Amino acid sequence: MNSQIHSVPVPLGSRAYSVLVGAGILPQLGRLASELETPLGKRCAVITDSNVAPLYSETVLVSLSAAGYTPTLIPVPAGEASKNMKVAEQVCEEMIAAGLDRSSWVVALGGGVVGDLAGFVAAIYYRGIPFVQIPTTVISQVDSAVGGKTGVNTAHGKNLIGAFHQPRLVLADVVTLQSLPPREFNEGFGEIIKHAAIRDRSLLEPLATPNLQFEPATLAHVIRRNVEIKAAIVAGDEHETLGLRALLNFGHTIGHGIENAAGYGRYLHGEAVSLGLVAAARLSVAKAGLAPEECQLLLDALARFDLPMRLPDDISTERLMAALLKDKKFAQGQVRFVLCPRLGEAYLSKEVTLEEISQSVEALR
Ligand code: GLY
Repeated sequence: MNSQIHSVPVPLGSRAYSVLVGAGILPQLGRLASELETPLGKRCAVITDSNVAPLYSETVLVSLSAAGYTPTLIPVPAGEASKNMKVAEQVCEEMIAAGLDRSSWVVALGGGVVGDLAGFVAAIYYRGIPFVQIPTTVISQVDSAVGGKTGVNTAHGKNLIGAFHQPRLVLADVVTLQSLPPREFNEGFGEIIKHAAIRDRSLLEPLATPNLQFEPATLAHVIRRNVEIKAAIVAGDEHETLGLRALLNFGHTIGHGIENAAGYGRYLHGEAVSLGLVAAARLSVAKAGLAPEECQLLLDALARFDLPMRLPDDISTERLMAALLKDKKFAQGQVRFVLCPRLGEAYLSKEVTLEEISQSVEALR
């Protein structure tokens, strides 16, 4: 197994950290954590879920113990339903009962739900303790584990309670992706294709190739390039106040509306993003001069990963538009829509009307 480690820096001044990408690097966690410039405390909580715990928690616990740490395993039930204040509070209580204090730290071992929940726990426990992200899904390795967005859902919507809390280290082992069901593996390519569309066209062509085989080295290359794209955007606009980080919402305005209107759980996040990308790419042809054949290249890449590209009739445009208007991005009543004038570039536009968005949703049928 090639256990070469690629280190992608996330340059955020005093909150700077590295994302380490490689194949078979999980057993090195303890040593890598112990080599951090600012030392971590002896005790840590390994927060994971009921799907991931049987697969990787033993490796993580052994590696941490061998490096002199004292880990406490805290599994939560797998699934989006665990991403709420109640579970966050339960995890905090378990950490208190286990004797973890302000010198302790958290390991988030799992996909986006675990990363967001465990990161949020780390952000609030004793007013904030360090955490290390170990994303085990494609979507969390290329997106949610990088950039410090943590949080939980409420009955009113997703991610409405949260904090920016940057990890100290992210360790992305592509071998963990081999255990993913095909649907969850493919889901991640919704975000990868989005990154390619807004920042690196050269990523797209190989993705649209039929019969592409994902050897660990190929996968490590794709993940690393995506982490570089995400890291550069986060470094330029950590708190999403400058209009740069908002470009990561390409395909997400409509994607979030679809997730909400369909009922959470029907589409995986990356699948809803795929539908949003189809609509946003077509709007980019109409409004930003994206060449139709370039739009087709993006659609071919989505098709290659069996991602949904047509909206079923039972998800009405009215319901979707109502959901979309409740979105955080529309808070001031101003539509700010990400368009892509050329593959590899994107900008925020105020020129897209609600009527045009609604028509682009209808065109998905
Ligand atoms: N997933 C979008 C962001 O991190 O800003």
